[in-house]
Amino acid sequence: MISKDIKKAVALLNQNELVAIPTETVYGLAGNIYSEQAVKNIFATKKRPFFNPLIVHIPNAEALEDIASYVPEKAKQLAQHFWPGSLTLVLPKQEGIPDIITAGKDTVAVRVPNHPTTLALLKELEFPLAAPSANPFNSISPTKAEHVAKYFKDQLKMVLDGGPCQNGIESTIIGFDGEEPVVYRLGAISVEEIEAVVGKVHLQNKKEENPEAPGMLKKHYAPKTKLILCSDVANEIHKHADKKLGVLSFSTSFKTSGITHEIILSKKGSLHEAAQRLYNALHELDLHNLDLIIAEKMPEKGLGISINDRLERASQ
Ligand code: TXA
Ligand code: MG
Repeated sequence: MISKDIKKAVALLNQNELVAIPTETVYGLAGNIYSEQAVKNIFATKKRPFFNPLIVHIPNAEALEDIASYVPEKAKQLAQHFWPGSLTLVLPKQEGIPDIITAGKDTVAVRVPNHPTTLALLKELEFPLAAPSANPFNSISPTKAEHVAKYFKDQLKMVLDGGPCQNGIESTIIGFDGEEPVVYRLGAISVEEIEAVVGKVHLQNKKEENPEAPGMLKKHYAPKTKLILCSDVANEIHKHADKKLGVLSFSTSFKTSGITHEIILSKKGSLHEAAQRLYNALHELDLHNLDLIIAEKMPEKGLGISINDRLERASQ
């Protein structure tokens, strides 16, 4: 099931089948955006509700013409600066984009992923790929081919192996209020990096009811084990000394005899490395039959803000 054979992936996708694909953020569960059979199968395989729209993956910015009917000036600047890369733009949709992709909305989410295997694949295909993260609804996103294979072993013919994902958390999603960018989902490109290109942006990533982007639902990205997020890890360990504990820390060890399992995300204190390793660490901690995972809050800057967003959702 796990294979590096791009030709085989092309053949399957041309037959309306699904293939899990590597991207620099997380693995995606991909199908032809114009195949109703493939797209319905994406929703069914993930057990994803139909109100949650999909991201369209294209090989280059030129292909945007077929997807979006209008591209604001600041969207052009962002695309030019960050594509291929971990930025998803939500734009007015072009005629011909199926309603099932956009959950009936008149906007469509689109990005050019930055992964050599998937870029090569997209160039071989005559259609873009719809690809949500390749995990069942409400569970942790996959950052390795093995994570996907474990989730969908009986339901999927192929996981195209591109190695571990370099960025490790999902793309940053930006929509537009008229001409002005609005961040719908924090992600692998920090708000600071976005603002360096287009100036101050509005954040709208916490709306709970009728969410603009359903990735903003409160409970998301969650491990099966209960998780708490805190700044004072030593104190939490002390409070829960009677439990079988896992600790997920940023850069330092809290090792005491009480900790059954500890993962340090980045000993050198790099937020990029911490993001890269985050989901794999949650997958791993989930395997140890722990009573509780104590996660340390990251510094509230750059990618730390995106990581804290994911950990907060995982703790709900
Ligand atoms: O990094 C990523 O973005 C990964 C890789 C595979 O590309 N994909 C991903 O897809 O995270 P997914 O389906 O797990 O998350 C897509 C998010 C959802 O929260 C959805 O609500 C939002 O994109 N979205 C899609 N179309 C939208 C639209 N028209 N308006 C607002 N939000 C939209
Ligand atoms: Mg997802």
